[in-house]
Amino acid sequence: MKRLTTLILLFFTMISVAISHPDQDIAVDHLKVEMLTNPAGIDVENPRLSWEIITETPSTYQQAYQVLVASDPSLLSPDKADLWNSGKVDAEESTNIRYAGEELDKDTKVYWKVKVWTNHGESDWSERAHWILGLRYYKDWKGRWIGFDRAFPWEEVSTFPTLGARYFRDEFDIKKTVERATVYIMGLGLYELHLNGQKVGDAVLAPTPTDYTQNVKYNAYEVTDLLQENGANAVGVMLGNGRYFTMRQHYKPYKIKNFGFPKLLFNLIIHYTDGSTEVISTSDQWKGTADGPIRNNNEYDGEYYDANKEFIGWDQVGFDDSAWLQAEYVQEPVGDYEAQMNENMKVMQDVAPVSLEAIGQDRYVLDMGQNMVGWLQMTVKGKKGDTVKLKFAESLQENGELFMTNLRDAKVTDTYVLKNEEKVTWEPRFTYHGFRFVEISGYPGEPKIEDFMGKMVYDDIKTIGHFETSDPMLNHIYQNAWWGIAGNYKGMPVDCPQRNERQPWLGDRAVGAHGESYMFDNVRLYKKWLDDIRLAQKADGALPDVAPAYWRYYSDNMTWPGTYLMIADMLYQQTGDTSVIRENYPAMKKWLGYMADRYMTEDYIVTEDSYGDWVVPPPSIEAGTGQNADVKRPSALISTAYYYHFMEVMSRFATILGKHEEIPSYQSLKEKVHEGFHEEFYHQGFYGDNKMTDNLLPLAFGMVPEDDRQRVFDQVVETIQIKNNGHLSTGLIGTQWLMRTLSDYGRADLALKLATNTTFPSWGYMIENGATTIWELWHGNVAKPTMNSQNHTMLLGDLTVWFYEYLAGIKAGADSPGFKVFELAPVFVEGLDSVKASFDSPYGAIGSHWERKGEQITWKIKVPANTTAIVKMPISATGGILMNGEALRSGDMEVKLGSGEYELVF
Ligand code: BGC
Repeated sequence: MKRLTTLILLFFTMISVAISHPDQDIAVDHLKVEMLTNPAGIDVENPRLSWEIITETPSTYQQAYQVLVASDPSLLSPDKADLWNSGKVDAEESTNIRYAGEELDKDTKVYWKVKVWTNHGESDWSERAHWILGLRYYKDWKGRWIGFDRAFPWEEVSTFPTLGARYFRDEFDIKKTVERATVYIMGLGLYELHLNGQKVGDAVLAPTPTDYTQNVKYNAYEVTDLLQENGANAVGVMLGNGRYFTMRQHYKPYKIKNFGFPKLLFNLIIHYTDGSTEVISTSDQWKGTADGPIRNNNEYDGEYYDANKEFIGWDQVGFDDSAWLQAEYVQEPVGDYEAQMNENMKVMQDVAPVSLEAIGQDRYVLDMGQNMVGWLQMTVKGKKGDTVKLKFAESLQENGELFMTNLRDAKVTDTYVLKNEEKVTWEPRFTYHGFRFVEISGYPGEPKIEDFMGKMVYDDIKTIGHFETSDPMLNHIYQNAWWGIAGNYKGMPVDCPQRNERQPWLGDRAVGAHGESYMFDNVRLYKKWLDDIRLAQKADGALPDVAPAYWRYYSDNMTWPGTYLMIADMLYQQTGDTSVIRENYPAMKKWLGYMADRYMTEDYIVTEDSYGDWVVPPPSIEAGTGQNADVKRPSALISTAYYYHFMEVMSRFATILGKHEEIPSYQSLKEKVHEGFHEEFYHQGFYGDNKMTDNLLPLAFGMVPEDDRQRVFDQVVETIQIKNNGHLSTGLIGTQWLMRTLSDYGRADLALKLATNTTFPSWGYMIENGATTIWELWHGNVAKPTMNSQNHTMLLGDLTVWFYEYLAGIKAGADSPGFKVFELAPVFVEGLDSVKASFDSPYGAIGSHWERKGEQITWKIKVPANTTAIVKMPISATGGILMNGEALRSGDMEVKLGSGEYELVF
């Protein structure tokens, strides 16, 4: 009887399986773990899984999902999944679902897939994806750190250190059949890993830089296919200096961190088919040398490569390393070992030069046509000893020579010494340059333009946004912004890529990072930066101006360190990930307490500030000629306004974290600061000295009493229109709130005027003067060159936020971060005929494309599956709105739309 029931049950189960077939139209794709596609070697025990639903069926919403996780692809079915079968979970969420299966052991590769049920049917199972849980604990690492803790006779450790690369190698036998093998490597400052003669992976300048006394990032690579089974294998690692051995020794030693000589810890974990495991790791049995072809490598000064010093086959089995030294045990780098969750750099794009001209005896100048970051690959044929020098600069002098002064003492020169008459193609490894022009000297014979190729190097992150308008100048500015932002992604957002600085200054990205988030998939980069900032906090609560704090500036101001809160806020809004707030909230709170304790007066004014509205434009281009822009104008108005703003932000964070008991103290301090601010800085209709930024901040932060708002705003307008003759007069701080505040108060037309200006000071002025990136200074063409980079991003302010959130109107919903519910509400500003933008949100692509013909606007929008767009039509559209050819109910100025493509005409 029991058997019969089972059979009947089985029969019915089969029927129900047979009839619940997936809908061909609904698929699940783009599986991500911690927002990474198939990551190797992460160290998050319960990583978060995300997917996108792909469908043509309109208004599709997920109603349930099922995730399977298994230790082997063959086990990826509901009845076999050995690690996790979530079962059918009724939930709308398709991003950041925590893995809640079996606890995973170190160095475990797991496979997963997902299916969803929607209001329009169910999907099939997705393709499978995987992740590798890497090494999580200190004790998981075998072997020791090796290196040479000293300079060699041919190396100089002076102000301008010239340290060559270190090379380490070892051979090992594999006697069994390999099932899976993974390398875990920490090579500081930079490494390049080779196995059996092949470079492993396509990263360059890896790993990502950190403050190595705080944390050290390891990279992991699956190398199963690179190993020789039943035979001998060879591993070779080159080490460069990167940020570990400082680029400048003894020079401002009070502020530059030096971590020491390069070092390496390497673990290769091999799983054999018989179930056993072996670990190959660094020891003093490895051999090493510093007497190789890379004679010098320095981020500021370039790389010196002598091919005569090459050791062919050093990374292969059988190389005679008898002349090499025994590797030496060295101190470990102090910081905690962590998996690198942000992307390494890569050669992301080739840039072909546009011209090559002789400028003198044996000297040529190559023009890349674009200010770019990376290096030059060169093909050359000559004779032994020929020495080619490549020197990099952003611009030329009038006489055609490179303009070097704005690079300060960075030597920015790559050198290649030939070893024979064979044709070679070479590029450097452990340096990068910010340049448009290259002076070539010592090139044997006459160089041809085809002998050179620019290699654009930045973090391996996708461009996820596109933005284009009917205005060529706006498009050009956007392009310049793209090149500048991308090039300055160096595992941290650096201020500039060319002079002897290249530091991750906090203030430069406060709001810019928000605009960048529509252009680049930079979530993991900025998450890592929050870690850098938190780890740089002093025990007393102080936060730095630069993080990682390679330059130790702790100048106590609200604006630079305050970027910490703004980046966390941005990541939360754009991804809905609360962990960025949870992890950083205590440090933020501590810092705000520290600042209040030390710098808040009895009247609630925050007195301390360092930079003021950094790099405001001089009153005229003539007045700025030869002027040093390095002038600090500290402003208590700015620091107090920011303190107020951060109390508001902290109240929101406390709400998100459920720390309701903490909200009243933020609110009450906010009120007091508000009163103090008003008392101190408000004068009959304007604030402070009535400078643009003085009025913009209280407007943007909602500090102006309602009755006075228009008056204060009118002052901003008057300054722009009358005093500035249609121009801005904001620096790094004011520009961050400029475009949005103008638009919020109904003057998007004025914002557009500023954005399309071509006279000083404006982004267009830079372009008129040849800029292909964004300058550090509004008067960059005439200012004193000592602080005058041609590739900074900070003066973009909120321009790119305005492009996406205002002109295209794509914006995360005010109460719904992460784009599950988002707004589509463009400002159809007069003066523009069209705006076309798209952005890959965590759920898929969002599109907004409007075009004006005469009085009529046609607006095409795209809403991804499992999201809702709140679509807002302009008031002026009351004449009637057609959606996909049908009239909307009159008065419907706001509609909620599910996924699909729509065309609105009004
Ligand atoms: C950097 C800036 C930075 C500033 C602050 C400059 O040298 O290039 O981007 O924010 O210093 O002082």
